[in-house]
Amino acid sequence: MELPYCEPYKIKMTEAIRTSTRAEREQWIKEAKYNLFKLHADQVLIDLLTDSGTGSMSDRQWSAMMMGDESYAGARSYYRLKEAIERIIGMPYFLPTHQGRAAENVIFSAMLKEGDIVPGNSHFDTTKGHIEYRRAVAIDCTIDAAADTQAELPFKGEMDLGKLEDVFKKYPKEKIPCCVLTVTNNTAGGQPVSMKNIRETTELCHKYGIPVLMDSARFAQNAYFIKMREKGYENKTIKEIVLEMFAGADIMTISAKKDGVVNMGGFVAMRSEELFRRAMQFNIMYEGYITYGGMSGRDMEALAVGLDQNTEFDQLNDRVRQVRFLGEELDRLGIPYQRPAGGHAIFLDAKRILTNVPKEQFIAQTFGIELYIEAGIRGVEIGAMLADRDPATRENRYPALELLRLAIPCRTYTDNHMRVIAAACKNVFDRREKITSGYHITFEAPIMRHFTVEMEKA
Ligand code: F0G
Repeated sequence: MELPYCEPYKIKMTEAIRTSTRAEREQWIKEAKYNLFKLHADQVLIDLLTDSGTGSMSDRQWSAMMMGDESYAGARSYYRLKEAIERIIGMPYFLPTHQGRAAENVIFSAMLKEGDIVPGNSHFDTTKGHIEYRRAVAIDCTIDAAADTQAELPFKGEMDLGKLEDVFKKYPKEKIPCCVLTVTNNTAGGQPVSMKNIRETTELCHKYGIPVLMDSARFAQNAYFIKMREKGYENKTIKEIVLEMFAGADIMTISAKKDGVVNMGGFVAMRSEELFRRAMQFNIMYEGYITYGGMSGRDMEALAVGLDQNTEFDQLNDRVRQVRFLGEELDRLGIPYQRPAGGHAIFLDAKRILTNVPKEQFIAQTFGIELYIEAGIRGVEIGAMLADRDPATRENRYPALELLRLAIPCRTYTDNHMRVIAAACKNVFDRREKITSGYHITFEAPIMRHFTVEMEKA
């Protein structure tokens, strides 16, 4: 008989997680003002808030940390990371930062000015935040199909080239400092972008003289999907595909906390020496000297190893397989989510489940609270709470989708945890008709309200 799948690693260390009762969880979430971010992590059984910085590092990464060179300037660890970036990403210049948004801050400080236009395929919140904070405008050019949760497309995170060209025709080149291509597309459900679309996007940008900046938080998963789904790539290694993905890009930013599988770190890399010289001033001001930025020597060591190990097929296959496994469990139970399953997370379609909760009472947030009370599982809302208010009118914005993201940290939970998640979703799903009200806001910050919002039952 065919042997079943097993993980390509064994486990050397474990961390206990605590169980709790429904009554305890009801009390805790009330004390947290119904904001999942405000829960103590010890009040959570399975934490799916994010896969960012929450993965398990390998024994080689932990041992590399002992080799960290903490010299202020010119540390050995910096050169080790530089070598890995040149070899794996293929870009000659880089600046280390403490995480992805810091890389955005550094590079946008060097590139963006008020009134600029930055097209992209679903800019991540912090990317959009850094653009809008500089009074520039982010224009979303994602393909329309990404908003249809039930459409099964192999590359649902792609750039719509027609929309992109419209932007290039409408605005002069001087107003468009770059185009942001995000791989994989987190906001659209962890959906990948094909090599064909990457190539066509970069060709179109370069035809109009616009540099391409790749937001690469989950670049290795994207390469995995290209290998598995795009004709002509079946026999290439992940590392070959990664190099080809970046071949047309001028700049890349990365939150290394995802596919680098480190707890903290990021960088911005580029081809242009001139841009590097401009950006390094900002790295020094905001992050740290150019050879450490926001990272200690030991962090750079762990990242150099992480970049190497996590651009190997077995590791990626294991990670994406587990997300797919959760998707298959949900399929079996008839629970709707953004299809197909993404690389790092399942995005539950709360709007299709809680049809009796008015949108003004935060549908996906309500589902997230119910799932927490049900089983101590913490996801994150991607709906009206995150969409926030219109900066001009201050009215609530109601996006087309109300999603609850269940991000699966890398190598952290087992398939048994996935089964618990699916069963808990099913229990909430079964009582969906009875859930008829959500929550009202009692406190909200003027920007990025979802992190600190306080609510009460509606
Ligand atoms: N770009 C993408 C596509 C991201 O998903 C993130 C972070 C960032 C940039 C910013 O990186 O957090 O290191 O500053 N995403 C996390 C998440 C927070 O949960 O999806 P960061």
